[in-house]
Order: sequence, then C-alpha cells, then structure tokens
Amino acid sequence: SPSSRDLEVDVVVVGAGVAGLSTALGLARSRDVLVLSDGEGSTGWAQGGIAAASTPDDSPALHAADTRAAGDDWCDPRAVDRLVEEGPLRLAELVAAGARLDREPDGRLSRSLEGGHHRRRVLHASGDATGAEVARTLAAATAEVPRLSARVVGLLQSASGQVVGVQCSSPSGRVRVRARAVVLASGGLGHVYGATTNPAGVRGEGLALALLAGATLSDLELVQFHPTALHTGAPGGQLPLVTEALRGEGARLLDLSGSPLMAGRHRLGDLAPRDVVAREVHRAVRRTGSGHVWLDARAVPDVVRRFPTVAASCAAHGLDLASDLLPVAPAQHFLCGGVTTDGWGATDVPGLYAVGEVAATGVHGGNRLASNSLLEGLVYGARVAAGLVLELPDPAAISGCTPLLVDSPTVAATVREVMDAHAGIVRSGRGLAEAASALRPLVGRDPVAVVGAAVVAAAAARPESLGCHFRTDAPASAGRTPRVRVRLDDSGVPSVLTPASASASA
Ligand code: SIN
Repeated sequence: SPSSRDLEVDVVVVGAGVAGLSTALGLARSRDVLVLSDGEGSTGWAQGGIAAASTPDDSPALHAADTRAAGDDWCDPRAVDRLVEEGPLRLAELVAAGARLDREPDGRLSRSLEGGHHRRRVLHASGDATGAEVARTLAAATAEVPRLSARVVGLLQSASGQVVGVQCSSPSGRVRVRARAVVLASGGLGHVYGATTNPAGVRGEGLALALLAGATLSDLELVQFHPTALHTGAPGGQLPLVTEALRGEGARLLDLSGSPLMAGRHRLGDLAPRDVVAREVHRAVRRTGSGHVWLDARAVPDVVRRFPTVAASCAAHGLDLASDLLPVAPAQHFLCGGVTTDGWGATDVPGLYAVGEVAATGVHGGNRLASNSLLEGLVYGARVAAGLVLELPDPAAISGCTPLLVDSPTVAATVREVMDAHAGIVRSGRGLAEAASALRPLVGRDPVAVVGAAVVAAAAARPESLGCHFRTDAPASAGRTPRVRVRLDDSGVPSVLTPASASASA
C-alpha cells in the first residue's frame, strides 16, 4: 500500500541522543546506518556536564573511585574503568568535532563540581546547557547519516529469535526496516513515574521492546531520583531540572525553617551522592507536607550568567535565581539498570544491542555519579560502533515480529500512580507486593505498564537497601541479593530470573 515502506540497512539505531548519534558516527564510514527517532530525548536537556579526569591533581583512577563509591560498590569495575579511561579520548574527539566547552579566560577548560565528586572534573558548555552543545555537535557530525522520524513499535525476528529489523509507525505510514543489527539507544523510563526531569516522550519504550524480544534486563530496581527539580506547583509530568552544579558552586539546600538540610547528614554535605540527598529532601518534604524544600543559590557568583538554563526555568515560573529561594523537590531522573549488555553493547538476544541509558553496562552500580551519563553515551556509543564495524551478525530471514507496542493513556496513568506510591524513593516489601498485584492485570502492550511491572518485580526481589533502591523495611544491608535480572515469562509478565534459571540461560 502507499502508506507502507520497506527499507534495508546494515544497522538501525533507535534514538538520536548522545548514545545513538555516537554509535551512528562511529559506524558512518563503514556501514550503512539509519537513525530512527521519535520526538525529543533527554540529551539536549542535560545541564551539569560531562565528567572527565583531565588535570594533574585528578586521574581516571580517582574518577573510577568516585563512580564506584556513588554506585554503592555495585558497579562492574571493568565497565567503570572503560568509562573513565576512554572518556577523555572521546571527549577530545567531540571537541575536535566542534564542541565548544566553557573555558576560563586563560583558555583552560572550566571545571565544576557535582555530588559525589572529589575533584573539579565536570566540563560544561554555555554554563548549564551542556547537553544541547553535545547534541548540536553530534548532529552536525552525523549530518550525512540518513535519519527517519519514526516510532519503533516492534522488533522483527527470525525463527530462532534473532533480531533482524524494526517495525515502525511514522507520520507517513508504516515502515519496516530490515537490518543486520538493531541498536537501542532510546533512553530511560521517566514517564513511568508521575514526576520526572525527562522529556514527555521518554516512557521506557526501548526497555519494553527488548523485553518483548526476549532480552534480559538487570538492575531495574535502581531508579535514580534527582533531588532538585523545580517545584512548579504542577501536578507532575515533566519538571524543570535545577542542576546539581549549582550546589557545586555553593548553593545550599535549606529546610522550610531555613536550616541547612544536609548539615551533619553526610561527609560531603550538599554534595553527597544524589541518592543520599534525594532521600533527605524526600524526608523533609514528607515531614512538612509542603511539597518542597528550598535551594538557596543567592551566594553563587554571577549565578544567572553561569546558569542561564536554570535562570530561564525560574523566570518562567516567576522566580529570580539571583534573589529568590527556589522551591525544589525530587523527581525521577535516570535508570541505572536496563537491558543487560556486554562491553560492546551486545544483549543476550542475537542482533539486538543497547547503549546509553537504556543499557545496563554496570558503570552506574547502585546510583549513577553526576555527569557520567553523557560520558557513558560517548564511550559506549563508540564501543558499540567499533564492535559492529568489525563484525555484523549473520543475516537471517524474517519470521515474525514481537507483539506491537500500543499506547493506553488510562493504563499509563494508573501505572504512574502505583509507581509513585510504591516504587519511588522509599519502598517496602508490602508496598511492592501491592504494586505488583495492581500492575499484573495491566501488563499488555503499553510500554509504561510493561516497564513499570518490570521495575516493581525487580524491586520486590531486592529485600535490602542498595544505592537508590531504599527499603524502609530493611534499611541496613544484611548481605546483598545477587544482581536482579528480569525477563518476560511465558504469559508475557515481567518475572525475576532465579539464579538457577539465569545460569541455565547464560
Ligand atoms: C545535573 O545537572 O544536576 C544533572 C547531572 C546528571 O544527571 O548527571
């Protein structure tokens, strides 16, 4: 029919953020690659920056130590080493490709501090618009790579389950793209929760597609909440981020009576790792019922010029960053886990790869260190590309397609309520059991429902607190449950693999 098209390429990349475009850039010269994207992703919105050890007082080893400590010692140390060691090289390539990072008057790179970092190593652009500069640079560098505005609704598979392409819907009709390799670079799951810093289209679709194709996901219980989204009074949805780099320049969290919130709570005070700060803010918000605490950025030098993005968000809500206390509250921000991958982005389904936030590489452990996510996209995007430059999976015939994703707004709204109530910053076994039974009948083809149920299953399987997974019923860790892996069971419900079934399938 005129509204149906078939295409064929070597590699299809799903997502056009830092991870997807880094992958496409690495492939462009030797492979026929197509980038699919559907609406705006999180990269362009990233504020704080990109962490990279590049001064004499710093080293990849110190950056790795901070990454592992923020990650609550749950990181894969090899994955972290790749990140911190390859990071400066990938960043240099980005600069060579035209990225304009902020510099001091003497030409040296300007370096900020964020939570969990013991050195000033967060590089940034246009103050707090780092993601936009990364996105601009990568878009320019990949201008020759074909792109299609389309939403992937299913994965094509061979008789043996190998992924051999994607099924999309686009404004001009149905598109089927055959490919030797499909790289998911589709970001996180923000709108599986009621309030998030992620753009509206981020609903866990890549995670849902991977589950439906038979892939294993890991560390899904490790959902990161940012401590300081602007409390706009809106009922939820996407909330403006107030970058942690403000605290790096001296801004402080205050409770409603004006006392420093983080005093005596952690050695690093306002710059404690993100999960620690988010829990303190959450607790204070609960205690007072006010919905927010204050961030005081009035003493930050030249604050409006240094943080133009935050200043603009504030102004849009009638606040002056330089002179007002800012009402802030936590919001979902990042998924530390995702589709299980090896060091080259390969999943346990042949032909299917994952990179960036959608992937679990092991770099983030229990809680991602600030400004490691753009870095992950750069480093692992290049690695996925390198792997696929060397070798593509064998071709295989299309035999069918995964069940197609279907949006169900009422189902998604119910899922968000359940997730906010029971699978947010603070969790308990009882709450998670309630959530699991509330979600079970809703799991179908809506990505939010599939992914919400998967997160709840994972969280219920970890009875102890770990990183950003905080259990009120077992706050002090008494031993650690092995890495939690989730897959769809025969009836299409996300289920935790027992250690025995996990090793049998490995
Ligand atoms: C921020 O700017 O506070 C967010 C940085 C990050 O998520 O790494």
